[in-house]
Amino acid sequence: MPLQRLSLRTSLSTLTLLIVLILSLTASSMWAQRGSKDHPWSNSSLSPDERAAMVVKEMTLDEKITLLHGTGMVGLSPMSPLAVHSNGGAGYVPGIPRLGIPAIQMSDAAYGVRSSGENGRYSTALPADVAGAASWDLDAAYEYGALIGRELRAQGYNMTLGGGINLTREPRNGRTFEYLGEDPVLAGKMVGAVMKGLQAQHVIGDIKHYALNDQESGRNAVNVNIDKRAARESDLLAFEIGLQESDAAAVMCSYNRVYGDYACENKYLLTDLLKKDWHFKGFVLSDWGGTHSAEKASAAGMDHEEPGELFYGDELKKAVEAGTVPATELDDHVHRILRAMFATGVVDDPPQKSVVDVAGGLEVAQKIAEQGAVLLKNDHGQLPLDASKIHRIAVIGPHADVGMISGGGSAQVDPPGGNVIMPPGKGNTHWQDHVWFPTSPLKSIRAKAPGAKVQYDSGADPASAVALAKDSDVAIVFVYQWESEGMDLNNLSLPENQDELIAKVAAANPHTVVVLETGTAVTMPWVDQVSAVLEAWYAGSHGAEAVTNVIFGDVNPSAKLPMTFPKSEADLPHPTVVKPGRESIPNYRQHEVWKQIATGLAPFQVTYDEGVKVGYKWYDAENKTVLFPFGYGLSYTTYAYSNLKVTPGKNPRVTFTVTNTGNRAGAEVAEVYASLPAAAAEPPKRLVGWSKVKLNGGESKEVTVEVNPKYLSIFNVEHNGWQLLPGDYGFMVGGSSQSLPLKESVSLK
Ligand code: BGC
Repeated sequence: MPLQRLSLRTSLSTLTLLIVLILSLTASSMWAQRGSKDHPWSNSSLSPDERAAMVVKEMTLDEKITLLHGTGMVGLSPMSPLAVHSNGGAGYVPGIPRLGIPAIQMSDAAYGVRSSGENGRYSTALPADVAGAASWDLDAAYEYGALIGRELRAQGYNMTLGGGINLTREPRNGRTFEYLGEDPVLAGKMVGAVMKGLQAQHVIGDIKHYALNDQESGRNAVNVNIDKRAARESDLLAFEIGLQESDAAAVMCSYNRVYGDYACENKYLLTDLLKKDWHFKGFVLSDWGGTHSAEKASAAGMDHEEPGELFYGDELKKAVEAGTVPATELDDHVHRILRAMFATGVVDDPPQKSVVDVAGGLEVAQKIAEQGAVLLKNDHGQLPLDASKIHRIAVIGPHADVGMISGGGSAQVDPPGGNVIMPPGKGNTHWQDHVWFPTSPLKSIRAKAPGAKVQYDSGADPASAVALAKDSDVAIVFVYQWESEGMDLNNLSLPENQDELIAKVAAANPHTVVVLETGTAVTMPWVDQVSAVLEAWYAGSHGAEAVTNVIFGDVNPSAKLPMTFPKSEADLPHPTVVKPGRESIPNYRQHEVWKQIATGLAPFQVTYDEGVKVGYKWYDAENKTVLFPFGYGLSYTTYAYSNLKVTPGKNPRVTFTVTNTGNRAGAEVAEVYASLPAAAAEPPKRLVGWSKVKLNGGESKEVTVEVNPKYLSIFNVEHNGWQLLPGDYGFMVGGSSQSLPLKESVSLK
């Protein structure tokens, strides 16, 4: 008995000790995260600038330097012992507990939180960013950002590295799936909405890769040359709009050079434009390994080096002590980082690790995939399929029995449930692997059509796929094109003889439906042979469910292409790969590139002589016919446009009526384009606004799109400002860049 008591007491005191330990550990980790509440700058009624300025005054030089760099990454820069406190994300900046400043935990999060397996956490994979852009839905974009923000916080992160916005100037760029298409107004407004949703969760937002990082091949060596006006009206305009719309607190400068200087030590980009002209109050961080100097980068306006301290550690400190980097310049870098933390709420409301809402996340992912899937062709109303009337369905294509492909590189999200085609024991995501999410088209179609015989063929042997197609009422062929950071595509053709597979299946069955799982435009030599084509992009964690809902009509497609699909590479501004570095680097490994940086890479030149003519502006100006135009996408109903009225004014108002002329409810992206006066010497038209209108069968709605005068202006380099030329402006309204039934010309002053 006494013995028992003793052991009870022992276990009680052990328990007490444990509780005390846990409480103090929690307190200390809360301290590290949250900091103390009794500093003058803890007063959240002060402005972020006032609060940041108070903290800067209290900081030692060493503390300031600590905030200006990350803590290392294997293979790129030496690891700091402090890195042990990292949450496993791409970047970690220790906090300053003495001053109540929490650490910054950064994670890649382009289409979901990249877990990289380090902390083994669950995250939802949304459809790729390009699919979000295809929704043309600002509310969906907000939801996209909000979901990522919530899941970042649940994993203990307080900063995203997502927000890719480089224009699809070159559709073979391996990162197009991470970006938002070819138009600066669409991309800028969509990234703005994503960032608003994200920062509303109290996470630091980031827009990248600033700027003109439009190809992956030779991305560390390429020097981009482009006419300044063209740059301001294209790639740079996307950043300008994105930042204005959202106040994103960080901008990541890119690997490439622009006008001779690396983007991360480019005074024109970082100071003249971003910080002065655009009044950006946040901080600039380098892409990983994109810093090349201390003094030059600092003077140019780069605030923070990632992932280590090759330049912004000792070297920067010595430069400050020697006076070659002024103390005011250093303080400005520090101020901007602190300001970003106060402004986004990461100091006042630090993240607490928690379990994410898995079901809620999947619902959002599926909804956005449904809103982002573009119906490109639908002859004779092939779709939607009526499950009750079809007896035999062939599901054909690589891995369509088990999963759907996702985009790779630093955007890669670990698939919950594992990569369905990864050989056992190899782990989850790897830079070079094709990662297939366990969302099975076959299963999903079987569930939707329980009365039908649904059979699968991988297509590896086209003869067997053809036999199945012949024996089926409808053949649904799932094809893919994998893309990843660090490589570009050699061409826009589907790999692995998939073009041939589609052509053969289509020859065997007149009811062939092609579902594309791609991150960019593809060429379609078989397009006239098939009856329907659906661009599903990289469709995310619930991609199969979304695609099935569209195919069977539970969802009426409403997405529009955010990029032109050309007929062939010959129609691109740079049809042949002639410039060094435009070739793809299929066996690219980060380490090799970084090693090359360390030893110095000779720059090579790429000149964007197409200038402002990106995407549809190029095809319009060059009179080239395309496969599917920008802004195009079909629905299961039809829409009519009428009653255009343009009211001039500071923000011209474009009013018109959209009518759903069918029976089925749907949502139409009504697009507004403008042509500028001849003196502007611009391409024939540019997108200046849009509205996504929900309409029941037979319903009409009057829509007004207010046009920001900047979208009607040209950039005047001499006066360094936007200029609205007086003259006649043509306003065109309709359902795609090539279907604009309403036109009105007005004179603007
Ligand atoms: C990519 C960035 C990414 C960073 C951190 C770089 O290779 O270009 O987009 O955020 O790595 O993973």
